[in-house]
Amino acid sequence: MKCNCNESCIEKKEELLSDIDNLYKPCLKCHTKKFKKAIPLKRQIKLSKLDANLYKCDNCRKRHIDIVMAHVLKILIENKQISESASLRQLGTPLITPAIYLESLPYLSEKSLVIITTSCDKETAGTIIEKVPEIKAILRGNIENTVGILNENVETNTYELLSGCDIRCDIQNTDKGPIIIYKNQSKIHIEYPKKESQKIIQLKGVLEKYENPTVIDAMCGPGTLGIYALLSNAKKVLFNDIYGESLDALKTNLTVNNMNPESYEIRNENILNLADVLENHYDIALIDAFPDVDTSGYIKSLENVCDEVVII
Ligand SMILES: C[S@@+](CC[C@H](N)C(=O)[O-])C[C@H]1O[C@@H](n2cnc3c(N)ncnc32)[C@H](O)[C@@H]1O
Ligand SMILES: [Zn+2]
Ligand SMILES: [Zn+2]
Repeated sequence: MKCNCNESCIEKKEELLSDIDNLYKPCLKCHTKKFKKAIPLKRQIKLSKLDANLYKCDNCRKRHIDIVMAHVLKILIENKQISESASLRQLGTPLITPAIYLESLPYLSEKSLVIITTSCDKETAGTIIEKVPEIKAILRGNIENTVGILNENVETNTYELLSGCDIRCDIQNTDKGPIIIYKNQSKIHIEYPKKESQKIIQLKGVLEKYENPTVIDAMCGPGTLGIYALLSNAKKVLFNDIYGESLDALKTNLTVNNMNPESYEIRNENILNLADVLENHYDIALIDAFPDVDTSGYIKSLENVCDEVVII
């Protein structure tokens, strides 16, 4: 995975987790200024007041996410990218990084927010990165459209990186400890950390039926399920994905999560052809397709190379 900004966007697991519980919490001196999401911003604050210092904590230097989003919206309005009467709801999708499951809205430090929006040109995105210190990247795209490769019949879809560096990290807590998933957000689908991941819970139930299973993570994406299997009781995981960008992220994530290179193999095949190139028989094959993708052909193609095919 390449980093555009030459900063340390990819940290080691231990560093990343060292202060994670406090990362988004306010200190005693923090300001809390919240806005109503559906009411025009200009009716809630004088836009000319919004700059990088407004409501910034003198002590910890964090700002509440609402004030950061308001600052971005002000720049979009000034640059005529969005209606003058726009509200925060129209701005787009904010993704914190590193992302953890949060019970309340975050207070942000520098370069901790990536925004996906339909209402911004490149020049304005550059201004936002320059003026709003908490923003790490601005991407243009519609989050209704899956990013990456939906299935083998369609073209790759990506968001456009307008400005900044789009490497971000999701931290999914599991019963085997946290799993760190880095990705270029313009190229890989959004999978935000959950309090409890239903996918992981399902996988745990499958793995528990075996002592030390061999597993195919047949549509592995950036690697969460296979990494969980290795953290649990899997003897070996074969990671596969049709999309090269997923595998770039996977390789980073295998390293960051300290996986033993002896315990995995990586393939870049269409799942429909995977069985043809496998030499061994496996215990479990995991199929985690995007919603509404027909998996019947995938099941058929893997049935003969493993004991159990699991649709996640
Ligand atoms: C829902 S995502 C998998 C998410 C992954 N399990 C995770 O936890 O991050 C589906 C994945 O299937 C991959 N994919 C789509 N069509 C495929 C095909 N025909 N063969 C192999 N992989 C495919 C996509 O590139 C994508 O990474
Ligand atoms: Zn970077
Ligand atoms: Zn503070």
